[in-house]
Amino acid sequence: MTPIALPPGFLFGAATSAYQIEGGWDADGKGLSIWDHFTRLPGRIHRGHTGDTAADTYRDFRGDVDIMRRLGLDAYRFSIAWPRVMPEGRGRVNEKGLDYYERLVDALLEAGIAPFVTLFHWDLPLALHRDLGGFAHRDGAQHFADYAEVVARRLGDRVGHWITLNEPWVHATFGHIAGNHAPGRRNPWAYLRAVHHQLLGHGLAAARLRALFPAARVGISLNLTQFYPMSDTEADRAAADMADQLVNRLFLDPLFRGRYPDALWGKLRVFHPKIHPGDMDVIAHSLDFLGVNYYTRTRVRHHRLVPLFHLWPDSLPAAASNGRGVPGVEYSRMGWEVYPAGLFELLFRLKQEYGNPTIYITENGAAFDDAPPVDGHVHDDARRAYLEQHLAVTAAAARVGVDVRGYFVWSLIDNFEWTHGYDRRFGIVYVDFATQQRTIKESGYWYADLIRRHKAELSGRE
Ligand code: FCB
Repeated sequence: MTPIALPPGFLFGAATSAYQIEGGWDADGKGLSIWDHFTRLPGRIHRGHTGDTAADTYRDFRGDVDIMRRLGLDAYRFSIAWPRVMPEGRGRVNEKGLDYYERLVDALLEAGIAPFVTLFHWDLPLALHRDLGGFAHRDGAQHFADYAEVVARRLGDRVGHWITLNEPWVHATFGHIAGNHAPGRRNPWAYLRAVHHQLLGHGLAAARLRALFPAARVGISLNLTQFYPMSDTEADRAAADMADQLVNRLFLDPLFRGRYPDALWGKLRVFHPKIHPGDMDVIAHSLDFLGVNYYTRTRVRHHRLVPLFHLWPDSLPAAASNGRGVPGVEYSRMGWEVYPAGLFELLFRLKQEYGNPTIYITENGAAFDDAPPVDGHVHDDARRAYLEQHLAVTAAAARVGVDVRGYFVWSLIDNFEWTHGYDRRFGIVYVDFATQQRTIKESGYWYADLIRRHKAELSGRE
C-alpha cells in the first residue's frame, strides 16, 4: 500500500458517545434519558443489555485519556449526556454533571488532545420526551439551544469545536418511524417534525455558541452514504436518486441550500411539519464544518410495492449478518459492505455540489469479531485494513482539493452498540466488560504508528 500522506495540520482522533460508554446512569443527580428507558423494555436490545455500566467512564475516564495520549491522538470526539447536565431537559441545571465534563476537558487539554464536543448523541432527557415529545415538538429546538448555552457557558472557553447533533436522520428515522431506537415511536407525522426541529435546534444552538464564543467552530455530524443503482435501468437510477434525497439531501440541502429537496418534499406533502418564516434562514449556512460519518455504501433497486418511494436498499439482507452477501464482497460484522471508494466519491461530491465545505470525518470504523486478548494482544487485521483503506482514500480526497481536516475512528473503545448491545465491537481498544480492563488492539497500534510517521514526516520537512 502507498504511504498515507495527509495534509499538515490534519487531526487524528477517535470518537465515542455518552450513552455508549459512560455508565453511571443515575449517578450524581443525572436524569433518565430515553435510552435508559428504552433499553429496559423487553425484547428491544440484544440479550437485554443496557448502558447502565457500559465502559464505566463516568466513574473513571483517566485511563482512557492516558491511552489516547499513548496513541498520540490529536483530538477526541465525545458527547455530553443532556440529562446529566439538565435532568429534566430544561430549567434546572445539575452542576455535578457539568463538573464531570469539565474534568474530562481539562484532562484532555493537559494531555494535548483537542476536545470535539457533541451535544446530542441521541440520549434525550426522558422528561422532555414524556412532556412534549422531544424533537417532534417545536419547543424541543428551543430547549436544545438553551441546553447548548448552559454547556457552552461552562466549557466554551476551552472547547474549540462543537458538534450540535449526531446523525439526526437516525434519531428521526429509527426513533420515530422504525421504532427500533429510543424513543421507539412509529409515527410518520412525528418523523418530519423530528427532522425539522432537530435542524432548527442545531441552527439556534449554533447561533448561541457563536454569540458567546465568536471563535467557536460549529458543525453537525451526518450519516452520509453513497447510493448506487443495482442496475443501469432508469427505474433503479431513480430509486437511488430518491434514496439519496431521503438520507443525504434531507439534511445537506437545508444546511447548505436553505431548502428541503423538492422531489422528496413533494412526495411527503401530507407529513409536512410546520415551517415558520425564518426557520430556513436559521438552518442555512450555519456550519463552520461538516462532520461526515461514513461506514458503507448502499445499493438500491426499484421496488414497486414500497409506498411513496418505490425503492429497496439491497444492503438490508446482509445487514442481518446472515452471511448471505454478494460473493467476493467483504462485509463487517454489522453486515455492512466494506467499500472505501464510496468515501472518496462522497467527499468529492460534497466538494463539487456543496461548495467545498470544511470536513471532518467524525466517524469511520468497523465492527469485527475480536477474540479476547491473548498475552496482551488482540489481532484485528480486518479492522486495521479497513482503517488503512479509508484513511488512504481520505488522503486521496485531500490531494484533489477536498478540504478534509481530520479523521475520528469509531470508536476509541468497544462500547454499547445500541440495539446490538455489547455484541458488536468497534473499538481500537478492547474492553473486557466484566473487569473494565482495556487492551490496545493491533489496529490501535497501527493507528498510533501512522500518526507518529505523519508527525515525523512533517518535522523532517521543517
Ligand atoms: C453511528 C453512530 C454511533 C455508532 C456507529 C457504529 O451511526 O453515530 O453511535 O453506533 O454508528
